[in-house]
Amino acid sequence: MVSAQDVQKLVQSVLRGYKFLIVSNREPYIHMYTPEGVKVKTPAGGLTAALDPLMQAVGGTWVAGGSGDADRENVDEHDRVRVPPQNPKYTLRRVWMSKNEVDKFYFGFSNQTLWPLCHTVFEKPVFDKSFWSGYVHSNRLFAQAVREEIGSAEKAFVWIQDYHLTLVPKMVRNGFPKKRKLVLAHFWHIPWPTWNVFSYLPWAREILEGLLANDLIGFHIRNYCMNFLASTEKILGAKADYKNYTVEYNGHITHVKNFPISIDFETIDKLARRPEVKKEIKVVRAPQYIPYKYIGVGVDRIDYTKGIIERFRAIDRFLEKYPQYQNNFVFVEAGAPSRTRVPAYMELGERIRQLADEINWKYLRGYWKPLIYIEGKMDWKRLFALYRTADVCIVSPIHDGLNLVAKEFVAANVDCTGVLVLSKFAGATEELRDALFVNPYDIEGFADAIKTALEMPMEERKRRMKNLRRHVAENDVYRWLADFITEVGSIVKG
Ligand code: F6P
Repeated sequence: MVSAQDVQKLVQSVLRGYKFLIVSNREPYIHMYTPEGVKVKTPAGGLTAALDPLMQAVGGTWVAGGSGDADRENVDEHDRVRVPPQNPKYTLRRVWMSKNEVDKFYFGFSNQTLWPLCHTVFEKPVFDKSFWSGYVHSNRLFAQAVREEIGSAEKAFVWIQDYHLTLVPKMVRNGFPKKRKLVLAHFWHIPWPTWNVFSYLPWAREILEGLLANDLIGFHIRNYCMNFLASTEKILGAKADYKNYTVEYNGHITHVKNFPISIDFETIDKLARRPEVKKEIKVVRAPQYIPYKYIGVGVDRIDYTKGIIERFRAIDRFLEKYPQYQNNFVFVEAGAPSRTRVPAYMELGERIRQLADEINWKYLRGYWKPLIYIEGKMDWKRLFALYRTADVCIVSPIHDGLNLVAKEFVAANVDCTGVLVLSKFAGATEELRDALFVNPYDIEGFADAIKTALEMPMEERKRRMKNLRRHVAENDVYRWLADFITEVGSIVKG
């Protein structure tokens, strides 16, 4: 097993003398006004959770968009603040964008153009020139902040995150003195579509050229790497080497590799064993709260890629087809609102509420209802109690880069009594081979898989969960970080 200290040592050895920077749209710490004064929050989502331990271990600077209403009042004259606030370990440099800039860059091009395009779902991407201009403009703001943070350092390593910042690598590299050493790497947290889907984008060339200024680009799985290589070849005419996973373009070589992201297994495992969680399990299983034999759980950002509608339909079909489970099965879904200024997300929130209500109304008997839909973040004790005691956790995206909820459930299911039902279209399927796989569009098959999960003998549940836990424990977030940094190291040396 790799520890935070191992990663720290690795960075110190492979990037000795390099200024260390991370760049992402989402910031790891958000200052917010509350009636009790300014509070610091951490965002939902895997990116910041995965990278914060690294930054805490190695120090350095994280450049990110300021998003809290009290952010501006909590930085110095260089827009910097030391974080985590209680025990500062690294510098957060905030980039400011106006509401209009965020609308075009984040809610617009990032989440209405690139997000649906890369997930290849039936939500039409919006191809809007003003979104694109806003995206270019905001990428310039981030690139400028990165340049300022690099300052006069002779050597710098910049690790850029995700689809919001595809133009930053080229912008940072351009004009950077050749005699100083700059290593650029990018991690792509979502799927990369097939080259012909990507070619629909009117600005596909610019995005690919921006990304190819990197020395290394990481994707979750091989399939996305292959799609990326093909995109560079077909759209740009770059020289893609499918054997060595490299792209040569304008004399620069970019390495491409798969690194499936992960979670902090040990921390989650420990939290799930805490006495407060054990106490909460009794509450969850007690007749006043969920007086049923079988419990299912789902946890998502409210996003059309997550397959929440398909999941509810499958539960409905399961109860119709196997009426013996009526009155006996309850499914708790926690949906965290996300990107709520985007019309497709607003509509989805409403559709989910309506469908949950319709299904509950259809089966309502006494005080039993099959769906408990909680909009918002669940209290951690209840969440972990559900993860520990649930018979089944359903993760059913219609397409997902990887999906960390699946791994979180595995890490928290310490008694090995739960079954993971996982969509075939989540990147995590490549690793979590002992889950039960479903096609979320195949409602009949999905309904049957829920039955199979609930009826699975305890011995088989335990065997499968032990295998899953072994895999996730060995391949945790520190291993992900170490693998990525090791690859950076071989590029630095080479
Ligand atoms: O999964 C892609 C991703 O951008 C993650 O990197 C991030 O943690 C999550 O979606 C949440 O997105 P947002 O920053 O838009 O809330």
